[in-house]
Amino acid sequence: MTKINRQWRLKTRPEGMVDTSNFDWVEEELGALPEDSVRVRSVYLSLDPTQRGWMRAQRGYRDPIGIGEVIVGSGVGIVDESTHGAYKEGDIVVGMLGWQDYATFTGKGVDSLTQVQPMDGVPLHYYLGVLGFIGMTAYFGLLDIGDPKEGETVVVSAAAGATGSLVAQIAKIKGCRVIGIAGSDEKCAWLTDDLGLDGAINYKTEDVFARMRELCPDGIDVYFDNVGGDILNAALALINNYARIVACGMISMYNAEAPVPGPSNIVNLIVRRAKMEGFIVLDYFPRAMEAIMPLGQWLMSGQIQFRSDVVDGLENTIDTYNRLFTGENFGKLIMKVADDPMTEAK
Ligand SMILES: NC(=O)c1ccc[n+]([C@@H]2O[C@H](COP(=O)([O-])OP(=O)(O)OC[C@H]3O[C@@H](n4cnc5c(N)ncnc54)[C@H](OP(=O)(O)O)[C@@H]3O)[C@@H](O)[C@H]2O)c1
Repeated sequence: MTKINRQWRLKTRPEGMVDTSNFDWVEEELGALPEDSVRVRSVYLSLDPTQRGWMRAQRGYRDPIGIGEVIVGSGVGIVDESTHGAYKEGDIVVGMLGWQDYATFTGKGVDSLTQVQPMDGVPLHYYLGVLGFIGMTAYFGLLDIGDPKEGETVVVSAAAGATGSLVAQIAKIKGCRVIGIAGSDEKCAWLTDDLGLDGAINYKTEDVFARMRELCPDGIDVYFDNVGGDILNAALALINNYARIVACGMISMYNAEAPVPGPSNIVNLIVRRAKMEGFIVLDYFPRAMEAIMPLGQWLMSGQIQFRSDVVDGLENTIDTYNRLFTGENFGKLIMKVADDPMTEAK
């Protein structure tokens, strides 16, 4: 039976938030699988703020997505067909599957796939979240770069999001006082009531600087920045001597079409002998298990919670993607493309 591959391809470079007019919906027949190749059926696709940068013409830490190309992105799926010795039909893999039903990897491209040993009851999208690169981002970003010490004050922005919520909980496990910043009262209540944070600030309704000063009477030792902009500027004003600012993401700038002014309080890095350091999680992939093992244990013991926001249907990807920027997502944003064998359709 001929299989149809549904795909989202880049048609025009978005200005501001993405729109369906920036993409082509393509349905094409799959051809025969070449030698030395693996064809993967997508189950879940990860929607990530960084993909917005890849849609621009400028080169970032990877090449831009070309006009006419399938939108690049990570996903978890099932090997549908293989002519490669390392994989067989039914294997579960994580890789850059892209916004499509089927991704084909040939020759050296096969090396980019990671095989997963799935566990019953653990949804496969966890391998794109807490047990995947999001978990690694939080773990290495906080512990390697933020280097928090017991009793220190850690502030996290986008704290109810996938990365931020893990950072906040790991900081609590390490004995820190943790303040989260998020965009709704519901998210703030989750941070304090369910995750046990010491305070939360709704940046959409409160004066962030005033509340940060109130909730961090001893100043800020570690600021884990997911958003940049005014929130970064407020944190810079309150850092202690030898503070560490982890530059993980600056989502407030990702849809900007004009250069965004830099934070005026940057001079405090000098005054406070502080450091601000960026990182890309890809560089930590060789150390993956160093993060995944403790994260898995904390998850099983109930010391951390992980929330996912799963939306059904590849055809809904574009509208769903914008939730990352409006804050409508509550947890790791995932597109479900096919049945998950770990949780259903047994
Ligand atoms: N360096 C790396 O290797 C790496 C790897 C993964 C992710 N990241 C970065 O980590 C950050 C979080 O990514 P994620 O995948 O975990 O997504 P997420 O936090 O689950 O979702 C993004 C959240 O950002 C918040 N947000 C959106 N626009 C905002 C704005 N203008 N100001 C303040 N908050 C805003 C929204 O929450 P609210 O409702 O609270 O506004 C939204 O839910 C992003 O900046 C991403 O680029 C970096």
